Amino acid sequence: MHPRTGSDVLVIGGGIIGLVTAWRAAQRGLRVAVADPEPGGGAARVAAGMLAAVTELHYGEQTLLGLNLSSARRYPDFAAGLREATGLDVGYRACGTLAVALDADDRAHLRELHALQQRSGLDSQWLTGRECRRLEPMLAPGVRGGLRVDGDHQVDPRRLAAALVTACERAGVVFRRAWADRLSVVRDRAAGAVLADGTALHADQVVLAAGSLSGRLGGVPDGALPPVRPVKGQVLRLTVPRLRAPFLSRTVRAVVRGSHVYLVPRENGELVVGATSEELGWDTTVTAGGVYELLRDAHELVPGITELPLTETRAGLRPGSPDNAPLLGPSALPGLHLATGHYRNGVLLTPVTGDVMAELLVTGELPEEARAFSPARFTSAAVPSPASSPVSPASSPAGVS
Ligand code: GLY
Repeated sequence: MHPRTGSDVLVIGGGIIGLVTAWRAAQRGLRVAVADPEPGGGAARVAAGMLAAVTELHYGEQTLLGLNLSSARRYPDFAAGLREATGLDVGYRACGTLAVALDADDRAHLRELHALQQRSGLDSQWLTGRECRRLEPMLAPGVRGGLRVDGDHQVDPRRLAAALVTACERAGVVFRRAWADRLSVVRDRAAGAVLADGTALHADQVVLAAGSLSGRLGGVPDGALPPVRPVKGQVLRLTVPRLRAPFLSRTVRAVVRGSHVYLVPRENGELVVGATSEELGWDTTVTAGGVYELLRDAHELVPGITELPLTETRAGLRPGSPDNAPLLGPSALPGLHLATGHYRNGVLLTPVTGDVMAELLVTGELPEEARAFSPARFTSAAVPSPASSPVSPASSPAGVS
């Protein structure tokens, strides 16, 4: 019999990864609690929500590609399931993506990406500059060519997070609105956590899903703490006035002077422009330089953006891992599972993460497709020691994905 504060599963972190894990586990009959001062915050408050398995393909990330594609395929049913459970729409939009080149170097880079996509059996089509502009008339006249990827879509991460909070509530998940200070370990097994307000929560299994903060939980033994680090991303939001003709019909992106820039148009008129990628520790300052570079690069791509109202600037932290892939599954400490390190793919990987983590929690088995992402792949590598001080809510940075 559990004490009043007990559950089958305690999820530490109420961002979209923690929430989807909690929701799916609760749907499968487990009693679940989530510890987070602000469920639905974190990465989803900043992220653009591109589902870019094909356009964000990188050399050496073929295994990750499989997981990304698997999650992308789940999105239509996942979004429909959330709507059924909550009545909320998550802004899933099957709009496709156009990746364009502005100069000869960019074009060479895109040609390489196209060749890699083809070798990987992915669907993408090379277009001339004129063909790109026919698809997206707001593109700069200087666009030299591009890749049309009809399978890379988008979702609105803020709406996704809100729907997941509601879905969790309706499935009986209990929210503990405080940070977890320390993991409780009893007889060499994770047994719950102590919250910043002093409450001790007991659970048979604990999932650490605190994004870039996951490596800072107190009380986790050496070797079990995930090797995640914060990677800062600055993101802008502009608004396309309602009476204007459609501005962009799909996600448009490019690599400009080595930096990625993307423009993600929502049906409600929001236009998200992202993102910087900065290794600056826990800093979440929005800088003049970051905003300038994003606007400069986006303006080169789509000159008309300078007419639009700039409605928001924000910075968040991606949970980077040593190989850019997530850590999913049991840690070196019995009873403690990890669902973190999603880096640039947190929003994309949300559906598959929920499914594989729920399967693990219910059956004790990590599904085959997630085994390559087991935290065990890092156990022989150097793992940072647990941070001695917990992270207070006031200092907790948001993420981005
Ligand atoms: N996946 C987009 C980003 O991390 O900026």
